[in-house]
Amino acid sequence: MPDIKIFTALDFADANSALDFVAKVSPDECGLKVGKELFTAAGPALVEKLVDKGFKVFLDLKFHDIPVTVAKALTAAASLGVYMFNVHCLGGREMLESAAEAVAKVHNSPLLIGVTILTSMDETQLRDIGVAGPVEDAVLRLARLAKMSGLDGVVCSAREATMLSANITAPFLKVTPGIRPLGTALGDQKRVLTPQQAVQAGADYLVIGRPITKAPDPLQALRDINAQLAVL
Ligand code: C5P
Repeated sequence: MPDIKIFTALDFADANSALDFVAKVSPDECGLKVGKELFTAAGPALVEKLVDKGFKVFLDLKFHDIPVTVAKALTAAASLGVYMFNVHCLGGREMLESAAEAVAKVHNSPLLIGVTILTSMDETQLRDIGVAGPVEDAVLRLARLAKMSGLDGVVCSAREATMLSANITAPFLKVTPGIRPLGTALGDQKRVLTPQQAVQAGADYLVIGRPITKAPDPLQALRDINAQLAVL
């Protein structure tokens, strides 16, 4: 299977809607991101089904708990055969280190990615929870903590990817949502980059939802984006 750059966000409410969509795409063109809504509705059985169909799965459950609980949750998630999963960096160094240790022990370790600051948070909201200063400083601080704790990379906006590449030594993966191919609807995303701009900014994996899931021909939409990325 050729290496893939795109994870299509399966933002569906139930397994049947997700599987109807998945029948229209191919594991050669994208991986699939399963988040909290779909996982809560459809559970591990759906994840295993997607893995059995040959898709790389990014399990986006953003674990954040005491170190031992996060380590055990990741071990359980790894047993489903996922390719990548994530934890909140705000869980702190001990939690991140215990997460990385747990992942290193499993066979075919999934990529372990950190969430720094949710893009829904601004400087005022950060101050409310006791985090002073610009959002970008907090993002860099948490990304450095992720790197030091043994994580493989972070979820970040493509606009932060360049800053992170300049400050954190490779290998350090940048997984970026907020992507819109030219001519597609913004939806509720405010600051977006095109797939090419995101990769040029240093993104390793792109998380793209509606421009693919709502396209009249999702496979063609994926092929178009992959073709644009192939010429970079
Ligand atoms: O449809 P769209 O391309 O906007 O979907 C983006 C996906 O990435 C959604 O699953 C969304 O929850 C997720 N995401 C995001 N922005 C973040 C983190 C995750 O859009 N900062």
